[in-house]
Amino acid sequence: MASAGYVLTWLLWGYLLELWTGGHTADTTHPRLRLTHKELLELNRTSVFHSPFGFLDLHTMLLDEYQERLFVGGKDLVYSLSLEQISNGYREIHWPSTALKIEECIMKGKDASECANYVRVLHHYNRTHLLTCGTGAFDPICAFIRVGYHLEVR
Ligand SMILES: *[C@@H]1O[C@H](CO)[C@@H](O)[C@H](O)[C@H]1NC(C)=O
Ligand SMILES: *[C@@H]1O[C@H](CO)[C@@H](O)[C@H](O)[C@H]1NC(C)=O
Repeated sequence: MASAGYVLTWLLWGYLLELWTGGHTADTTHPRLRLTHKELLELNRTSVFHSPFGFLDLHTMLLDEYQERLFVGGKDLVYSLSLEQISNGYREIHWPSTALKIEECIMKGKDASECANYVRVLHHYNRTHLLTCGTGAFDPICAFIRVGYHLEVR
């Protein structure tokens, strides 16, 4: 899947964000609006975030309304995106599995593409830290991420 040059982009659109966070109790199994990618871009209300690593394999997100950030977990990465400037004000935590873990994973007979750290969990832990967990090349690992001015993995 992760072919070279393949760039996963994803869109954040103000209205969609409101739908997520607005606490609507209406039937949510069907989207209230249907728009194509092109239509969305033409509204000029769309910010596109391109992961500099290309393929993101997004699996988990966490909205931090208080700090106005969106945390995004992908393959070997966690991003902290600024809701004000999705494409600019982001921070990135590179969190790959170690070479040893990858080797062990491949020796267990897993496909090489699965032998990476796919970040699956992002939770608020306390006022200063998020808890995040990844598949760790079939050896799950968790870490605290200190949020605030200096974002770092502990
Ligand atoms: C979006 O921006 C383009 C280019 O600036 C402009 O031609 C278009 O009319 C704008 N669309 C809307 C819905 O404002
Ligand atoms: C939050 O949890 C982390 C990890 O256990 C800890 O280091 C930090 O001091 C805690 N922060 C607060 C405000 O309790």
